[in-house]
Amino acid sequence: MKRVAVLISGRGSNLQSLIDAADGHYQIILVLSNKADAGGLERARAAGIATQVIPHAGPLGEKKCREDFDAELDAALRATNPDIVVLAGFMRILSDGFVRGWEGRLINIHPSLLPAYKGTRVHERVIAAGENLSGASVHFVVPELDAGPVIAQASVPVHPSDSPQALADRVLAVEHTLYPEALKLLADGSVRLEKGLAVFG
Ligand code: GAR
Repeated sequence: MKRVAVLISGRGSNLQSLIDAADGHYQIILVLSNKADAGGLERARAAGIATQVIPHAGPLGEKKCREDFDAELDAALRATNPDIVVLAGFMRILSDGFVRGWEGRLINIHPSLLPAYKGTRVHERVIAAGENLSGASVHFVVPELDAGPVIAQASVPVHPSDSPQALADRVLAVEHTLYPEALKLLADGSVRLEKGLAVFG
């Protein structure tokens, strides 16, 4: 059974779906947040999972540089030594050094059909572009933002009357089945990162 650490910044609904779906393929051993008030921390505690907060401001409110924050994150992870690190609504860009240190064992979920609509304000941009299809992607994390090889995707329709929130809710609903399935593929060894590609089987 693979040991998994989950990194969050917010409400943690994807974390909840990963907790609910854990059934022998993987075990969540640690939930780490960069925000002390992330709702997902409460979900982790309720499930009896260890939590840790690493704020990106120091004790006097001074911002840590990205490398210092990532070094702290890396040390906290190495201390529990997970097999897989899962980003679930973790809203920080990770430095190249951190990403390379976990390459092949670090995955993310993004609320678009990658490679389309990388970055932020995805649903607003999808609607503004008049798309009729959107969705979610689980991908290996590589240093370039939202550019890693895709492991799994799920699509949803975009309706002409959609608000960004309505579309976000529809996408989120499919994220909740997609992410556990993709994590199980990685935990089972059914997919791996090889020479920059997601290789199955
Ligand atoms: C999810 O929609 C996830 O795809 C998105 O943040 C939300 C987190 O929700 N992630 C990104 O946009 C990453 N670039 P959650 O905290 O309820 O899981």
